[in-house]
Amino acid sequence: MAPASFELIASLVLRETSIIYEPRKEYLVEARLHPLSVQAGCSSIDEYVQLVMRNPVERQKSIDALTINETSWFRDNAPYQAFTETMLPALLAARADRRRLSIWSAACSSGQEAYSIAMLLDQHLPPGWTVDILATDVSTAMLSRVQNARYSQVEMNRGMPATSLVKYFNRAGTEWEVVPSLRSLVRTRHLNLAEPFPMIGTFDLVLLRNVLIYFDQPTRHGILRRIHPHVASDGYLLLGSSETTLDLPADLNAMWDREQIGRVQAHRPATQAASTIAVPRPHPHIASGSLTGARP
Ligand SMILES: C[S@@+](CC[C@H](N)C(=O)[O-])C[C@H]1O[C@@H](n2cnc3c(N)ncnc32)[C@H](O)[C@@H]1O
Repeated sequence: MAPASFELIASLVLRETSIIYEPRKEYLVEARLHPLSVQAGCSSIDEYVQLVMRNPVERQKSIDALTINETSWFRDNAPYQAFTETMLPALLAARADRRRLSIWSAACSSGQEAYSIAMLLDQHLPPGWTVDILATDVSTAMLSRVQNARYSQVEMNRGMPATSLVKYFNRAGTEWEVVPSLRSLVRTRHLNLAEPFPMIGTFDLVLLRNVLIYFDQPTRHGILRRIHPHVASDGYLLLGSSETTLDLPADLNAMWDREQIGRVQAHRPATQAASTIAVPRPHPHIASGSLTGARP
C-alpha cells in the first residue's frame, strides 16, 4: 500500500481507538483490509482507503478489522483461579447484605472473558445472588459476536474445558452457542476506553486485560485514572499478565494499591485515594440477570 494510504488509515485508527500502528506495519494493515477491499469491489487497497475516508460504514468496518481481537477462554488461567479462590469469597462476604455483584469486561473482544467469568459465577455464586456482567469494546463487530454468543470449534479448542462445553453450550450447526441462562447475565455496550467514560456505575471486578499494550503511555495513564472511580472501593482491577503499572506518575500511583493473589497482581483503589476521590453512584438502569446456583 502507498505510504500516504497507510498514514491515512493509521491516523484514523489512532483518532478513533488510540491504537498505534507504527510504520512498517503496512503488511499487517494491508492483510486486514484486503478482504474488505475485495468485498467493496475496489481494485487496490489505496482505492479502498479512499472509500473508507468518505464512507462511514466502511470506516467502522476497517476500524473493526484493525483492532486486535486475540482472546481465549479462561485466558492465562491464573486470574480466574485468583477470582474464584480469593476475590469472590471476599466479595461474597462484603456484599452479603445486597447479594449482588457487578463485573465489567472492558475490551471484551468476542466475549470469552465475560462468559468465562459467567461460568465461574454459575458454579460458585450461592443461590439468591444476582450478577451483572457488562462487556464493552470499541469494535461493534466484536460486540455483535458477544451478543450472538456463537463460537467455532477452533475457538472452543482455545481453553474451553470439556465439562464446561457440555454444560454451557448447545450445538448450533458447526458452531457452539452459549446457553441462554449465561447469556442473560452479560450485556454489551460500545465504549471507547480512550474517551471519557459514560455513566456506567461502579464494579466489584474490572477486567482491563490485554488492551493497554496497544496504547501510548499518556493514553494508558488516562485510562487508569478514569477507570479508578468505576472500581468499588473494595473491588479489584485486573490487567493482562504482561501489563504493568510500574511507570505511573506519583499521583496516579497513589490511587492504586497492588495485591498479589497467587500468580496475579490485582490493583485495588488505594484506601487513602478512595476517601478523597468522588465515586459515582451505580447507574440505576443497570440490568441484572439472576443466578439460582449451579445448573444441574
Ligand atoms: C487483545 S483483545 C483482549 C480481549 C480480552 N480482554 C482478553 O484479554 O482476552 C483487545 C480488545 O481491545 C479492544 N480495543 C482496542 N482499542 C480499544 C479502545 N480504545 N476502547 C475499547 N476497546 C478497545 C479491541 O477491539 C479488542 O477486542
